[in-house]
Amino acid sequence: MSIKLEQVNYTYNPHRPGEKVALRDINLVFQDHCFTALIGRTGSGKSTLIQQLNGLLLPTHGKIIADDYVIDMTLVYKKDGKVDERAMKKKHKVKLQNIKSLRKKVGIVFQFPEYQIFEESVIKDVSYGPKNFGKSEEEAIKQAKEALTLVGIDESYYERSPFELSGGEKRRVAIAGILAMEPDILVLDEPTVGLDAAGEEKLMGLITHLYEQGTSIILATHNMDVVLKYCKRAIVLDHGKIVHDSTPLDLFQNSEYLKSSSLEPPKVFRFALDLIQGGLDLDLSKVKDTKTLANEIIRVKGGNA
Ligand SMILES: Nc1ncnc2c1ncn2[C@@H]1O[C@H](COP(=O)(O)OP(=O)(O)O)[C@@H](O)[C@H]1O
Ligand SMILES: [Mg+2]
Repeated sequence: MSIKLEQVNYTYNPHRPGEKVALRDINLVFQDHCFTALIGRTGSGKSTLIQQLNGLLLPTHGKIIADDYVIDMTLVYKKDGKVDERAMKKKHKVKLQNIKSLRKKVGIVFQFPEYQIFEESVIKDVSYGPKNFGKSEEEAIKQAKEALTLVGIDESYYERSPFELSGGEKRRVAIAGILAMEPDILVLDEPTVGLDAAGEEKLMGLITHLYEQGTSIILATHNMDVVLKYCKRAIVLDHGKIVHDSTPLDLFQNSEYLKSSSLEPPKVFRFALDLIQGGLDLDLSKVKDTKTLANEIIRVKGGNA
């Protein structure tokens, strides 16, 4: 499943105090089976963009097409060339068709998993989604158990309150709650914040596994190591606009752009660049983390990796 955004704009509190333009003329296609990173400093619009993808926020104007779900908020103009606000309001009221099917296909794991956990036990929480989407109690529990196994939460947790779990466990339960609905696209907002290196590797291992099984992945992150190591495409937002869209390799090789945008390339990448400057003929496309960097060094030194 792909999602296409055409001229998507989003303004919080339009025509009211606290008005804030958060997305400006976003034109973007998330292809089927993508593994895409959304990058950008705090406030650049990542979370707002994510929430457009399953209809949680509707564009102020613009169009989103995701399979049979289409929201068309393209601007209507009056004869005098001004935007016809009345016609736009009417469009907004149009009942959203297929939104439920969209919500099932596009699962979002929010930055603060506490916000999406609400049942009294882990198993109830994770089976809520499939039940809500029409599965029988039995089927829903089965799917919940499968999802919990996938995220590494064992049976001893099933009857515990999700609110008593650690931050990392809560995040995994929240992810299981989304996975239990078997989404085509898994969207994660800052999934590695607050995790230690081992937790990060475990979580990204799970996400990569899901990707390899066919799920599309879109994640917002500040973590450039994650972008380099796992993602296939890096989109940079700045003040609600897309300012860069390439492979992570091309992004991190573009030193002038990085400087102007105050993005820091991953440490391992900077180290590899220093080695190249020092005369080592490394293939940067092979460098994803310390292990692959070591392999590259061994390769150019003529050893066995
Ligand atoms: N509920 C809200 N009300 C008003 N402004 C908001 C709200 N949420 C976010 N914003 C503003 O919209 C812009 C984009 O925010 P956000 O999408 O959260 O960025 P990011 O996720 O990249 O940090 C920011 O300027 C932010 O202050
Ligand atoms: Mg955010």
